[in-house]
Amino acid sequence: SWKMQDILDEELEVIKSTVGPDDLVICGLSGGVDSTVAATLVHKAIGDRLHCLFVDNGLLRWCERERVMETFERDLHLPVTCVDASEQFLSKLKGVTEPEKKRKIIGEEFINIFDSFAQELKQKLGKEPVYLVQGTLYPDVIESCPPPGSGRNHSHTIKSHHNVGGLPKNMKLKLIEPLKLLFKDEVRELGKIMGVPQGFLKRHPFPGPGLAVRVPGDVTLGDHLDTLRKADEIFIQSIKDAGIYDNIWQAFAVFLPVLTVGVQGDQRTYSHAIALRAVTSHDGMTADWYDFDHKFLADLSTKICNEVTGVNRVLMDITSKPPSTIEWE
Ligand code: XMP
Repeated sequence: SWKMQDILDEELEVIKSTVGPDDLVICGLSGGVDSTVAATLVHKAIGDRLHCLFVDNGLLRWCERERVMETFERDLHLPVTCVDASEQFLSKLKGVTEPEKKRKIIGEEFINIFDSFAQELKQKLGKEPVYLVQGTLYPDVIESCPPPGSGRNHSHTIKSHHNVGGLPKNMKLKLIEPLKLLFKDEVRELGKIMGVPQGFLKRHPFPGPGLAVRVPGDVTLGDHLDTLRKADEIFIQSIKDAGIYDNIWQAFAVFLPVLTVGVQGDQRTYSHAIALRAVTSHDGMTADWYDFDHKFLADLSTKICNEVTGVNRVLMDITSKPPSTIEWE
């Protein structure tokens, strides 16, 4: 639309006039719509003075790393370095069960990896990065750090979303947040006029702490993460095959760290349960559970139990937000 084209032109001007001709800019790509659109915008404005980082924290979905790296490189030509930090994250999370503590550890580890990335750039290019691009949206700003007069304050912060307010107080990098005044649908429109593939723009949101908030308790136990990845992929693929992916704000599987008794192929099993969650929402601040048809659910449940080792029970989460949150932790 004209309005979006105007916003794009305006943002490009702001970035060009803010970032000095020799300044380096860095950006963490999560694989989500927001950071990708933010990075694409900044890349348009300043070209290869932008250096992006994609971190595999060991908490990503099935084939996520391969899928997003292909989009970044092949479709968007973004200058991006991929770091495999799975071991580093998972070793820090070993034995940690408290949700906010998990979030805090993951947030801190991202910052450590960012610091190292900045140091490496400095050694390679002879100067330190000056700016950090973040894909913060308007709802992130009001949920994590409500503006004065909005009737909400920090003590009401529900979860420490680590892409807002979780940055070190003494951080030298200056922030560029080109999406700060936009809602999700506007960000998608902005991405579209910049040529970000439509399939990518329609991706459901994914939380910064990744699958860690979808495995209640210690995420490092057994094959919990792998089991979750397989069930989640079957769920998402079934939703896409049914042609309903775009009707849903977010859908995902949750691994339940409880063992229950089942019977599969004449054998008694004692294995884990998987919960499925799908919601509709406008901005993630409130949500309604999505009502699948029963045939779809019956087939899905059979498929998950048949194809995912270690799962003998499938549950459906039928709670809205509030009283639940969208993620389980
Ligand atoms: P909740 O669980 O708070 O989630 O109802 C609302 C929306 O935010 C996503 N979410 C996050 N996104 N960093 C993010 O970038 C986070 O730490 C985080 N936690 C939750 C969640 O997936 C949902 O879309």
